Amino acid sequence: MSVATALPLPAPDALLAEAERFLRLYADEHGHSPREREARLAEVRAEVARTGSYTLRTEELAHGARVAWRGSTRCVGRLPWRSLEVRDLRHVTHPDDVFAYLVSHLHDALNGGRIRPLLSVFGPGVRLHNDQLLRYAGYRQPGGTVVGDPQNVALTRHLRRLGWAGGPGTPWDVLPLAVEGRGGVRLYPLPEDATCQVPITHPDIPALGELGLRWFALPVLGRMTLEVGGLSFPAAPFNGWYVQTEIAARNLADEDRYDALPGVARALGLDTSRERTLWRDRALVELNVAVLHSFDRAGVRITDHHAVTRQFVRFEEAEARAGREVRGRWSWLIPPVSPATTPVWHRRYRGGELPPRFVHQPPPWEAGRGEAACPFTGRQSGAAAD
Ligand code: ARG
Repeated sequence: MSVATALPLPAPDALLAEAERFLRLYADEHGHSPREREARLAEVRAEVARTGSYTLRTEELAHGARVAWRGSTRCVGRLPWRSLEVRDLRHVTHPDDVFAYLVSHLHDALNGGRIRPLLSVFGPGVRLHNDQLLRYAGYRQPGGTVVGDPQNVALTRHLRRLGWAGGPGTPWDVLPLAVEGRGGVRLYPLPEDATCQVPITHPDIPALGELGLRWFALPVLGRMTLEVGGLSFPAAPFNGWYVQTEIAARNLADEDRYDALPGVARALGLDTSRERTLWRDRALVELNVAVLHSFDRAGVRITDHHAVTRQFVRFEEAEARAGREVRGRWSWLIPPVSPATTPVWHRRYRGGELPPRFVHQPPPWEAGRGEAACPFTGRQSGAAAD
């Protein structure tokens, strides 16, 4: 199966307007003189007039990616946005090569546990079908229950249709990657040393460790389009590090995910006969303690919701000093555990994201992939006009 790789071109005027807006921001934030800035703008206008598109310089693309992180309204961990390392892989378009670079990305981002924020930008026509590089399979059973991660049932089915034989059928089967590029879609199983996972144990409740819970060390988003200067980069996987709440209060705890709270409550010996004993809440807190403890013990970087929200306030202060407004989605910024104990609870934010930004792609198995989501998603830098 191959999905169209060349989308309609954005109108040159719209492309130029976005290119100019970004290149002005770039020049401003790098202290360029008006002369330098105008020279670059003239170069880009000429290139667009000649070819219908233009190519960002590597430093411009890297800054665009950092600014996209800085402006991500769902992200509470934006303070270190300047530290994002960007790999310019726009020359890489064959799935085999993309996969090799993805494996390097996983190794280098993990960095022996001292996780580094990293983004790899691939060339025209490349798409990753997995929404995150590291995902557990979800197998729907005849009775309707799911073995594995119920969130990934559709992805698992899609990979099966592409030819994946399926895993052993445990709740923790790591999914292969589906990489689309020149030559169609190919499947790649991940080597074990690229899929670092942390077994979850509790510092003083051994029975919690016996539940066999685990999670990946790295969150690597694979299906968001990076938009910079009117150009779109649909294959630009990136990672930061986890906040423990993402794992302990959502991925493992949600009833429609791993639904671990009843098991945790049993391990803690709680009375689950009535909601009013607050067994869910107590189990939730101990599961959060366990995830932090486990990552610390494994030497894998992770933050907690108190540290990250205080850091977010520092980010707001730094942005105010730089004369920039911080936008946010409050419901995403507050943690799902004890939100009112964090400073973000007491603040309000204006929503809306302007490019440079990251935009979710609809899954490739859904028809009519949302080219309409943005007027500038038509073209990658350097894409052949076919
Ligand atoms: N919430 C997602 C997950 O649990 C990851 C989103 C990105 N998170 C991050 N800390 N960069 O897998």
